[in-house]
Amino acid sequence: MLAFLVLHLLASSVVLASQRAGAEDDLRETAQHRFNEDLNRAGDLDDEEYHSRFGPQVDLPFSGPLSFAHLPYSRCLDDLHSVTTPFDIAILGMPFDTAVTYRPGARFGPYGIRSGSRRLWDKRAYSLAWESTPYTNATKVIDCGDVPVTPFDNKAAVAQMEAAYSTLLARPVPENTCSHEVPSMGRSCSTRSLALDKKPHPRILTLGGDHAIVLPILRSLHKVYGPITVIHFDSHLDTWPVEGYFGLDDMSTLTHGTFFWTAARENLLKNGTCVHAGIRCKLQGIQDISNDEDVGFAIISTDDIDDIGPMGIVQLIRDRVGHGPIYLSLDIDVIDPSLAPATGTPEPAGWTPRELHRIIRGLAGLNFVGVDIVEVAPAYDSNAETTSIIAAHIVHELLSMLVADGPPKGFRSRLLAPKAVLPHKGEL
Ligand SMILES: *[C@@H]1O[C@H](CO)[C@@H](O)[C@H](O)[C@H]1NC(C)=O
Ligand SMILES: *[C@@H]1O[C@H](CO)[C@@H](O)[C@H](O)[C@H]1NC(C)=O
Repeated sequence: MLAFLVLHLLASSVVLASQRAGAEDDLRETAQHRFNEDLNRAGDLDDEEYHSRFGPQVDLPFSGPLSFAHLPYSRCLDDLHSVTTPFDIAILGMPFDTAVTYRPGARFGPYGIRSGSRRLWDKRAYSLAWESTPYTNATKVIDCGDVPVTPFDNKAAVAQMEAAYSTLLARPVPENTCSHEVPSMGRSCSTRSLALDKKPHPRILTLGGDHAIVLPILRSLHKVYGPITVIHFDSHLDTWPVEGYFGLDDMSTLTHGTFFWTAARENLLKNGTCVHAGIRCKLQGIQDISNDEDVGFAIISTDDIDDIGPMGIVQLIRDRVGHGPIYLSLDIDVIDPSLAPATGTPEPAGWTPRELHRIIRGLAGLNFVGVDIVEVAPAYDSNAETTSIIAAHIVHELLSMLVADGPPKGFRSRLLAPKAVLPHKGEL
């Protein structure tokens, strides 16, 4: 009897189990059916409430993750060989500020400049002055994020910055960059004729950081291109010898006022073609100028602009730099501190952003292999973020300069007579 009962129970549980299994199969089929329906619907986003009512999830000027001008953001150092996002021009932050002589804080420069760029984006970046936008597919510009730079050990930080720069410089340019029959000056493809290995290399627009970041950058560039001509926008010379500078005697010391001297000692610079523009700092004496010439530079002072105008400054620079590889380094303190106060060592009586923009435009078409903007220290900014916004728009001009074949003709009001008194901007 007991055996019968056990058998009966077993049998009923088998029946129950098989009934349950059948129900589960039904459920699974239903779920699969629904899943397939969802899949079919996925192509038709209008079925979702947000999308059907408001369209795609766009970033507004004041929303979204922070990349320069809402450009695609990639951790390029982790994107080995640029498999995911190849680029012609990389925006790269170097948040380093442990080589300053006065105010620290430029480690927040990359953050500040990206924040100042939020009203720039590819759909609204056409400028009248250039009659174009730099964010087109012809030249692939992306934001590569920041190099992780240690704030505790300058030698280690320099090694990190040089390794990062060299890594990105060695990346292949996108396939279509060099596919055009006549490579345009504005494309990274044009770096092929300048590089020692005769291969095209991408170009990097670095967001500093204090000015000392330029030493590891020049070391990287020298390995690819040989001696570099520097166009240096700054109120300071930055060519002072390390010896004696603030009592220093260790030649390997890095400071933001001596890195060009060190670079010249290492034969990274082309002697006699480098040029400063916007100089107005106080000196130890006139001997600083002969030292500067020894390092390989000539000076265009801030005040020269009153005599020859922005186009005159452009002409002096173009006449000086020659046809070798050129690096442009721009310290935000070239701008007057009443406009751009957030910087490490402010010097009054500087240029306006408008004057600087016009000079940058006049330099398009030169053989640029890299550019930077440094010394933006947002902690000292006005609460209207003027320095960060000015710096971001300088970056926009620098990008436009890099992708253009020559100085823009520029939009002219049709109210101006065809032969206005001023020379045409494009006629240099
Ligand atoms: C860039 O490419 C995308 C995808 O191919 C296209 O939708 C977009 O219009 C292009 N933009 C420009 C400025 O050429
Ligand atoms: C650059 O050239 C000048 C003039 O020939 C020379 O005096 C100076 O030592 C040179 N500087 C370097 C760094 O080679």
